[in-house]
Amino acid sequence: MTYQISSLKDYNETLAESIQNPIRFWESQAESFTWHSKWDTVLEWEFDTPSISWFKGGKLNITENCLDRHIEKRGDKVAILWEPNDPSEEVVKYTYKQLLDEVCKTANALKEQGIVKGDRVVFYMPMVPALAIGVLACARIGAIHSVVFAGFSAQALADRVDDAQAKMIICSDYNNRGNKKIPVKAIVDEAMDKSCNSIEKVVVLKNSDEDINWSDDTDVWWHAIVEEQSTECAAELMDAEDVLFILYTSGSTGKPKGVVHTCGGYMVYTCFSFKNAFQYKGDDVYWCTADIGWITGHSYIVYGPLLAGATTVMFEGVPTFPDAGRFWEICEKHRVNQFYTAPTAIRALMAKGEEWPAKYDLSSLKMLGSVGEPINAEAWHWYDKHIGKGNCPIIDTWWQTETGGIMITPLPGITDTKPTYASYPMPGVQLELRDAEGNVLEQNGVEGLLCIKFPWPSMLRTTWGDHARCKKTYFSTFEGVYFTGDGARRDEEGRIRVIGRVDDVLNVSGHRMGTAELENAINEHPNVIESAVVGYPHDIKGQGIYAYVITDGTVDRDEFVKSLRTVVVREIGPIAKPDKIQIAGGLPKTRSGKIMRRILRKIASDETDSLGDISTLLNPDVVDALIAGKV
Ligand code: WTA
Repeated sequence: MTYQISSLKDYNETLAESIQNPIRFWESQAESFTWHSKWDTVLEWEFDTPSISWFKGGKLNITENCLDRHIEKRGDKVAILWEPNDPSEEVVKYTYKQLLDEVCKTANALKEQGIVKGDRVVFYMPMVPALAIGVLACARIGAIHSVVFAGFSAQALADRVDDAQAKMIICSDYNNRGNKKIPVKAIVDEAMDKSCNSIEKVVVLKNSDEDINWSDDTDVWWHAIVEEQSTECAAELMDAEDVLFILYTSGSTGKPKGVVHTCGGYMVYTCFSFKNAFQYKGDDVYWCTADIGWITGHSYIVYGPLLAGATTVMFEGVPTFPDAGRFWEICEKHRVNQFYTAPTAIRALMAKGEEWPAKYDLSSLKMLGSVGEPINAEAWHWYDKHIGKGNCPIIDTWWQTETGGIMITPLPGITDTKPTYASYPMPGVQLELRDAEGNVLEQNGVEGLLCIKFPWPSMLRTTWGDHARCKKTYFSTFEGVYFTGDGARRDEEGRIRVIGRVDDVLNVSGHRMGTAELENAINEHPNVIESAVVGYPHDIKGQGIYAYVITDGTVDRDEFVKSLRTVVVREIGPIAKPDKIQIAGGLPKTRSGKIMRRILRKIASDETDSLGDISTLLNPDVVDALIAGKV
């Protein structure tokens, strides 16, 4: 079994060993899994190209490790416990045995539809068990899954399908979210009308009684292709370095990029980090509230928990439906032991009042987790007091789509916790802080740019179809290290606090969004001449989206603001809707024509008394006008 750290001494020793001898450390972790043949080398790497391989030559299938390997000991244990959007509907449970059967049936159906190893399959689905089953079915046959969060627009979906050159989309007819019904298949149809020329089949899961448009050429019902299949499906043998999935995420420039993860290292690291960060034991019930459309759902709803033989809760709905007590009601109902959510959800529920959690019995909770954005002190204390009742260690976990798994976190009950601090590296994680010139900051009590100087098994290998972009984004800022894009502080005792992005990436309600991507969407509006987007502090969302827009002058403000939001929703999705839109006469630019975002950020954040030097601007006079026009 994957090693589980059990004391502070054990943590210190494991960390030391993992740094002194990473090869031996990760090799011994990997040995606890099922492999068909052993690797040739544990690690080959250089960060310049970059070229990274873990356990190369080793043959495995991750689903055998998630499913088959557990059948003997815990075949009847619940693997997935599904809680529907509507609390009056029935909970669905899949034991490990049942899940294996469903995955095999679905894998056989995909094969019959012509999907072979290496093909890309895009998912655009609600949080229902079929999504986890479909993802695992792809992994079973070596197809590469790419899950697109179902809140993205038809355009955003089409962009991802085209980039991945996917052969199949798997979606539902409708999604249920709170009291809304979202016409998912219609959005897929729209994407198909735009482009998606590589798509041969659209598989539709029946999830409602509504009618949908149907195209006999491409569309097939999930049940029609899956129901009659055999429950046996031999797992495709994959090299440890074969691609497992692509997940699109926003960067500071251009369109979202497809982060590529491979089979072996991802498996070893997500299992190890799951067992240790959550201290999962025995028959614990573990619940992560993320969506499988994000990396958190991949690593800590599906892969990590299943690799560790855990019971993982999957929730279809939203935290405020039918009321603001829903999360706590679910914790009580399923006797949840480990609960993992995002600061934005904590803040939103905190605003609804402490009477909501007070109605429920939360005594089963052993620890609480936070992920996706910095957790502010107020939310940390509320979480601790009203949910954990002062008895549950809070783990503030820092990581990224690119890191595949949790990199910095306290270990609950083992290391100490400090509000707003993600604190300590996981074993195998070699952090470094650098200043803007690239000098390594060795001492404590400093702030710098967060880098990682040694490979870890679940790190990204490339960005799909564009290796140069991977190099440029992560490995070129400083030579020889992976640059995270985040700034961090190290306190006097060595704990890390991640402050936030230092590049042009926003974190809105825990969702990553590039300012360039947002500006491109805004610029699609026919009356927009130029735009600049920045983040500003937002009580619930962490960061809000502030857009400065120069128009052609022919617009009525209210009409324009409304239509601009519509355009952004069309181009990206509702999560990208600007919170504030200021129609501006000009934007502050340097003499070389670059927008000075620093100034725009200060204005949007009401920090105009610390604007700094504006004399280098080409047009310093726009600053006063921008301040006067602030919305
Ligand atoms: C931010 C989510 C502070 C950070 C798993 C990172 C955090 C980006 C934390 C990655 C945290 C994530 N404290 N900031 N505990 N966790 N972030 O790819 O800026 O959606 O670079 O992965 O979220 O977001 P992503």
